[in-house]
Formats: sequence, C-alpha cells, structure tokens
Amino acid sequence: DLYQPTRENSEGVILDSLQQRAQQLEKIEPFMHHQWQAAPLINGESVKSQSAEITVSPFDLARQTGQLCNATEEDVREAYAVTRAGFISWNNHPVSERAKIIQRFATLLEEHREELIALCMREAGKTLRDAINEIREAVDFCYYYAHEATNRLISQPMPSVTGEENILSYEGRGIFLCISPWNFPLAIWTGQVVAALLAGNSVISKPAASTPLIAYRATQLLLDAGIPKDAIALLPGRSQEIGPQLTSDFRLSGVAFTGSTRSATDIVRQLTLRDGASIVPFIAETGGQNAMIVDSTALPEQVVKDVIESAFNSAGQRCSALRVLYLQEETAEQIEAMLKGAIHTLKVGNPCEIDTDIGPIINNNAMQGLHGHIEHCREHRRLMFEADLKEQHDTGYFVAPTLVRLHTIEELSDEHFGPILHIIHYQADNLDRIIEEINRTGYGLTLGVHSRNNQTIEHICNHARVGNIYINRNQIGAIVSSQPFGGMGLSGTGPKAGGPNYLMSFAQEKTCSTNT
Ligand code: ALA
Repeated sequence: DLYQPTRENSEGVILDSLQQRAQQLEKIEPFMHHQWQAAPLINGESVKSQSAEITVSPFDLARQTGQLCNATEEDVREAYAVTRAGFISWNNHPVSERAKIIQRFATLLEEHREELIALCMREAGKTLRDAINEIREAVDFCYYYAHEATNRLISQPMPSVTGEENILSYEGRGIFLCISPWNFPLAIWTGQVVAALLAGNSVISKPAASTPLIAYRATQLLLDAGIPKDAIALLPGRSQEIGPQLTSDFRLSGVAFTGSTRSATDIVRQLTLRDGASIVPFIAETGGQNAMIVDSTALPEQVVKDVIESAFNSAGQRCSALRVLYLQEETAEQIEAMLKGAIHTLKVGNPCEIDTDIGPIINNNAMQGLHGHIEHCREHRRLMFEADLKEQHDTGYFVAPTLVRLHTIEELSDEHFGPILHIIHYQADNLDRIIEEINRTGYGLTLGVHSRNNQTIEHICNHARVGNIYINRNQIGAIVSSQPFGGMGLSGTGPKAGGPNYLMSFAQEKTCSTNT
C-alpha cells in the first residue's frame, strides 16, 4: 500500500512558458495587495496586543504585508496550560479521525492556493515557481503522514513466548514544540505540525520571526479543518525573547526544530537544564556545507544546468543548496566559462515580475552577512565572478549570484545562506582526499555527483557521510515520500522528513502484557 505523491503542479509542468507564468500571476493578483495579520493564537482566540508591528516584503520595503503582535511571557504560560489540557482529549481521538482532519486541512490548503502563493511571495519573497512548490509540498506532507498514521499507528500483537498476550500500541507524547524556519514557511511548518498532531500530541508552534503571517494563516486553516482549538497554539516571536521560556517548561514532551546548527545546539543545552522534567526527543534538521563533485567524464551542459539550480534557485536559501563545487582540473575551465554565461542570463529582482529567476534575501541582517562574505573574498582575491544586478536594487534585500575561488572547503567556517558558490579544482588522484575533506566539515546534508564512471559514483556514495546524495541531477527539491530528506552530524538528528520513520518518532510506544 504505497503512497503516491501528487505532482501535477510540480516544477516545469505549469511554468514552461512566460504565458503560463503570466496566467498564474493573474490568478494571484487579487491577493497581491491583501493585508494579513499574525498574533498569538491560543484556544482558538487571537491575542491582540497594543504594540502591533507593521511587516513588509523583503523585495519591496515600502510595501506592507500585514500586522504582527508577538507573544509575551504570559502568552507562553497560557499556551502551555491550554495545550496540556488539549492533549488529553486529542490523544483519545481515533487515529482515523485525526487523519481525516489533516486530509481536510490539505483540501483547504488547495482551496486557498492562490492566496497562499501570494502570501509566500509577499512575506517570504518566494518566486512564483518556489511558492507553487511550497503549497504542493505542504499538501504532500499532509496526505503522506495521514496515510502513514492510518497504516502504522495501530496496535499490533507481538510474539507470545511465555503464553501471555502482548500488544504494542502508540499514543501521543504530550505537548510537542514545533520550531519552523522562514525558508519553507508553509511546507516545513506543515510537515512538523501535522506529524506531531497525527501522532496524538498537542502542539505549540513557534514560527520563524520573519514569516509569522503564513504560519498564522495556516493555523487558522487547521482550526477550520477541525483540529480542536486547545490542541494547537501559535506563538509568533523572536527566539531570543520567548525561546528560553518555551524550551524550559517542564510540560514539554518533544521538540521538532528546523533552522541553524547553532540554534539547535542552544536548544539542546536548554533542554538538559530542565531539572526533574522528562527526557524528551529532539528532532533537528539544520544546515549544511553541501558539495558537488564533478569529474571529467560528466556532461558539461547538464552540469551547468544542475549547478545553477542547486546553487541559485531560491536565492541559495535552502539548507540543501550547493555551496562548494569541486571541478576536476581537466574540464574546470570550460565549465566555469559556461557557468558565467548562464549566470549572466539570470534575472534577480521582484518575484512578481514575470521574468524573475532569483528573488530577495529574507532580511537585512542576512543580506549584510552575505555582502560581508563577498567583500572578504574580494579583499583576499578570491572573487571569480559577481553578476550584475542590472537594475538598482535599493527597494529590497538583493544579492547577486557570485562565484568564489577556494583551495579547500576548510576555508569556510560558516554556512553562507545565499547565492554564493565556492569553486575548488581537484586532480583525479585526489578524490579520496576531497571526500575526506567534505566529511571533516562535520556537516552531512546533501552531496551532488556528476560522473559517467560508475566506479567513481559508487566509491563516492560509499565513503561520503551525507544524508542525501544526488547523482547526475540537481541536489535540491526532495520529494515527499520518495526522497526522504535530512542530514547527519552537524546537519541534523534524523529521522528524515517525508520518509517512513519521521511520523513514528513523534509517537510514544506502549506495551501491554496480559496473563491470560
Ligand atoms: N527539502 C528541501 C530541499 O530538498 C530543503 O531542497
């Protein structure tokens, strides 16, 4: 009984031509001037405070997207009290009923598709293509985990060695804290929250500070779908302000986190300080220093297409994105020349314009950090190529696609979360050394391999310590249910999102042995 993802809206299918893009943009136009809101949502009530902030679009700083009220200490206390009570009754709902509600939520996401695409573009600066894929991935997570829940969260008899009856069953753990990122503000939010709810947990969601409007709208739709109002609370806010209070509460029963490696480490530290509280599972998906190895047998045209997509789609703001390209000396010069040519054709700018390929960086801090890295590389004579932004881009946060020369990946101490690609040349007899170098970074998320030599491919696959390997294709855009996604080491704990072990880690196992 295999789950089949629905891919009819996936990349390339509906956006092959400018005309198709224009049709899509026309459909979402009514929502392009809409104003959204976000506030703590506790027990189904929106908690509005006096101090609402205005939020703006990262590609158009003069354009308001909505209003935001952040959660206070009091809201965190209230959310714990409400969802603790909510857990008891939600956990008693049959799994089949929970799954039906999540399927209804997926239907609502599809019914509000145009609004959600517009919201993802406006608040998160997503391109049209990325925004469409974002909704699709969220819907896929719902159907896949609902399917998994009905098939796997069922009581089962275990072998009876002693003549007793043994039953293994599953239930929720309690309150799950879901901390989601801004780069997949709907898809990853949905994946975490839906898995936690399906397993019988109540949820406190702390969305990224840059994308609270999307999380608020999604929570409203979850409630509309039939999730009991005390089974989920949404707490928008900055981690520095409410993070420690959220992770130190003794009622917390599990944490699902997607974000930076540094934040993951901070959370682990805070969780260990909870004197007397239970030991809780921590499911983290963090960053990467992702490489691609291209040997001299690879097809240059295919390499260039896949490198451009892997490094620059979503303005490089994917944890899976390519950061370090290893080119075998013999073909390096040719591929670099082709890459520069391809980058010239990319348009960076307002995602609402029909021919935009690369949208904005999420915020000023992130943009300044990337510009700082580019300046550092320029000073050290490492800058190979910086694309022209073509137009004046002082209306938003933009970074041009950039190529940087490195001698070793060890020169990078941080993940540079943007459209900056580092290139290293290698000699064929140094392949083992570079695999070792990649492994030594401690990260292990994605790795691309381009080669027509099966022995080389097999050798790299056997020795690289990474979670997702992509051969002769790009290294982004894992598909729910067929390409389980997540890393190892500094890149995360697993289990992989969109894979068969994810949902189960949100559930508590219970064995009952009866002397018959
Ligand atoms: N799941 C996202 C991707 O594969 C991060 O690109």
